[in-house]
Amino acid sequence: MRSSPSAVNGADYPVWDAFIRLAHWYLPVAVGVMWWSGEQGRMDIHQWVGLSLLCVVVARVLWGLIGSQAARFAYFVVPPSVAWQYLRRGGQYAGHNPLGGWSVIAMLLLLLLQGVSGLFSRDDVLFEGPFSYWAGERSGAVTEWHLINWQVLQALIAVHLVAVAWYQWRKRQPLIQAMWRGKAGYKMSSTPPQPLWIALLILVMAGASLWGLIALAPQAPSYY
Ligand code: HEM
Repeated sequence: MRSSPSAVNGADYPVWDAFIRLAHWYLPVAVGVMWWSGEQGRMDIHQWVGLSLLCVVVARVLWGLIGSQAARFAYFVVPPSVAWQYLRRGGQYAGHNPLGGWSVIAMLLLLLLQGVSGLFSRDDVLFEGPFSYWAGERSGAVTEWHLINWQVLQALIAVHLVAVAWYQWRKRQPLIQAMWRGKAGYKMSSTPPQPLWIALLILVMAGASLWGLIALAPQAPSYY
């Protein structure tokens, strides 16, 4: 682990590569659809969007190992002491700031947990997740987890939105423009981004692996 360098550099590469931006903006759309479809009992939509969301998050996690500079965990996950110093002194960072880095880890973990627990869940009436037979009698407990985790995820998303708004309008740091266009103000990278096609290949491989696992799952419902 090493701390993110300060943003002050002369380079002109996007700090957020195309995949990070596409994956990021897919999140509010997909999370919104998951919320609505879950509440309305539209499990047909819920399962397909959920599977796509899980693939995107898995691909994002792998991108954290081999993606562009600011996307890598090794770049933005810093020791708690650095996060504490940031809390006291502040500062501007090209990628995630030291606190933001930890919140990204938390959000990705919760999104992963949400998607994976969904695969093992069932509602005892109309819907069975593709791996619910693997979970057996524990499927009920996993379904509880799915619901509790959603509450925690909502709280974290609320914190995320408040934090982004705080930096954007109170501290006048152009986070939203950077997440939209790739770079803005001091939010630039000193290294060129990894090509989008590599990320898309990872995404397709994540989808194919999930598809294969679902096909192997015992007594999976036939519509998979
Ligand atoms: C309209 C609503 C949203 C806005 C305006 C927004 C804005 C942003 C911005 C500006 C960043 C970059 C922060 C930085 O520079 O360090 C960011 C990162 C991030 N946001 Fe959001 N966000 C929104 C919704 C969401 C939702 C619903 C999620 C789902 C949990 C989410 C998850 C993330 C994650 C995981 C990152 C890290 C990106 C990465 O490194 O891949 N965001 N968001």
